[in-house]
Amino acid sequence: MANTVYNFSAGPSMLPKEALSAAGADILDYKGSGQSVMEMSHRSKVFIDIFEETKQSIIDLLKIPDTHETLFLQGGATTQFAAVPLNLIGGTGVADYAVTGNFSGLAYKEAQKYGKINLAGTSENTKFTYIPKQNALTLDPGAGYFHYCANNTIYGSEWKYIPDTGKVPLVADMSSNMLTREVDVSRYAVIYAGAQKNMAPAGVTLVIVRKDLAGKALPYTPAMLDYATLIKGDSMHNTPPCWSIYLMGLVAKWVKDNGGIAGMEQLKRERSELLYDFLDNSDLFSNPVNPKDRSYMNIPFVTGDPETDKKFVKEAEAKGLVNLAGHRKVGGMRASMYNAMPVEGAKALVEFMKDFEREYYAAPVVAVDVGDDDVTAEL
Ligand SMILES: Cc1ncc(COP(=O)(O)O)c(C=O)c1O
Repeated sequence: MANTVYNFSAGPSMLPKEALSAAGADILDYKGSGQSVMEMSHRSKVFIDIFEETKQSIIDLLKIPDTHETLFLQGGATTQFAAVPLNLIGGTGVADYAVTGNFSGLAYKEAQKYGKINLAGTSENTKFTYIPKQNALTLDPGAGYFHYCANNTIYGSEWKYIPDTGKVPLVADMSSNMLTREVDVSRYAVIYAGAQKNMAPAGVTLVIVRKDLAGKALPYTPAMLDYATLIKGDSMHNTPPCWSIYLMGLVAKWVKDNGGIAGMEQLKRERSELLYDFLDNSDLFSNPVNPKDRSYMNIPFVTGDPETDKKFVKEAEAKGLVNLAGHRKVGGMRASMYNAMPVEGAKALVEFMKDFEREYYAAPVVAVDVGDDDVTAEL
């Protein structure tokens, strides 16, 4: 394995070294408390201070208004696929969903257990290579809410506009682009994001809820999914994921120290432009997504030949460019470059791709035995 490793995993993924070192330094004795954060009571003052600091940092970074509550929950974004309809569909029994990839499809399917769910827009006809335009959305003015996934982790597309749904409350899954762009939180009823891409290790889900929408959950909603209960308990209706919350605080500090959300926006542009520019000029590699809708975070690409793709993933790994296999549903490759990925990582990847392409045309791959390993990724 190479000395420097750049991890292109779609999640869990790279975290800032500074945050990991700070956690390492505190691991046995958090600031003279004689306890690891992993051992503390979540009701103790020392942990409550950590919790409040993390919460405030997230509120500051995203400029979350007082109208909204910031929650740190368990169960991943997948649990929110159920929590959202359970909490928001009661009034009308109807919701609109846009399906632009895998996770919005799963959210759409889950919601169908709780009411009438309209397919308000989809890009399934091209295997999710684009984001439907505003005028292609079929909106029901009587819907309880409209749900979309702001960044499609597997297919590599991203909504560059906030859908205008009139009075219908907006809900967004921002699992794979949270803290990578300015968000006008006031426009949303609910925003949720699993933390394991841009914010923290797995185990905590950031959920931002407009307070006036809580308290209307369907009667059979489990307490752990009822936003009113969770807000009342300030994320501590039960034991919260203390360690992941602590790490999220350290990551939020790193984001602040590196220019805040504006700093992250600049980094994501630099990284993704390097790779997209290369892909668009390559004879061997290509990216299928409509250029205007391309994700800054998740960049899928293929050579067009599965054997060459496998060879690429293996050789890249030997050079310290790891976790580049595409999702098992789509194959090929995918480079996920979240906030903690240095621009040098994108440069190293592009340099390797150039070398690979040069060698490929010097001696094209005919049939290469790369073994039987399944090199496709899970997320
Ligand atoms: C956009 C998006 N939504 C939802 C999920 C599911 O998240 P979790 O595994 O935290 O439930 C993922 C996971 O990768 C994702 O990328």
